[in-house]
Amino acid sequence: MTNSSRSTIAELRGPVPLSHQLLRTFVRDGDTVVDATCGNGHDTLLLAGLVGDRGHVWGFDIQLQAVNETWRRLAEAELSDRVTLLQVGHEELARHVTGPVQVVLFNLGYCPGGDRSIITRPATTVIALEQALDLLAPGGTVMVTVYPGHDGGAQEQAGVENWVAQLEPHNCHSWRMGQTNVSAAAPYLFLVQKAL
Ligand SMILES: C[S@@+](CC[C@H](N)C(=O)[O-])C[C@H]1O[C@@H](n2cnc3c(N)ncnc32)[C@H](O)[C@@H]1O
Repeated sequence: MTNSSRSTIAELRGPVPLSHQLLRTFVRDGDTVVDATCGNGHDTLLLAGLVGDRGHVWGFDIQLQAVNETWRRLAEAELSDRVTLLQVGHEELARHVTGPVQVVLFNLGYCPGGDRSIITRPATTVIALEQALDLLAPGGTVMVTVYPGHDGGAQEQAGVENWVAQLEPHNCHSWRMGQTNVSAAAPYLFLVQKAL
């Protein structure tokens, strides 16, 4: 392998780049997908590119600043026509989105560069995860990056761990993906695929 072909390989520096690699595999032209936590819009932008002009992305965030920043990023890339952004909590997912959807992405915790006291909370996260699973097409995937390290992060980790532990193995394939050579407080990824 040459150095130039190596340069096309993504550096898997944590769960978010890993989730992006997986999204590139799972999301197809024409799909409907959900970004349940838009934040600064990096994930929404990737999804908007992957669904193509026949697909659609639904984005949720409770912060106006996050919705505005995501919108700015999409407009700059000329991809806003295929995205609906809502300043609404993801616990309202099922009131706005009609399935089937291919992917629902959760990137939990606080918005980098924003107010660190505004975080996702286990009670609403678990409600949203349940709705996300219902909305998935067979073979569709819920992806969740969990951040145990910040204030409130351990409680949310416990809530998500409990939720994935009770999933019926006949109905979905549930994975935990984390780095082995990092602290126990480092973020990691859950993947829940609805069975075919
Ligand atoms: C880690 S950030 C998301 C990062 C983002 N996906 C990106 O690419 O930049 C987490 C976001 O979740 C949002 N959030 C908190 N509670 C929420 C809720 N109930 N529903 C939707 N978003 C929520 C926060 O406002 C914050 O922007």
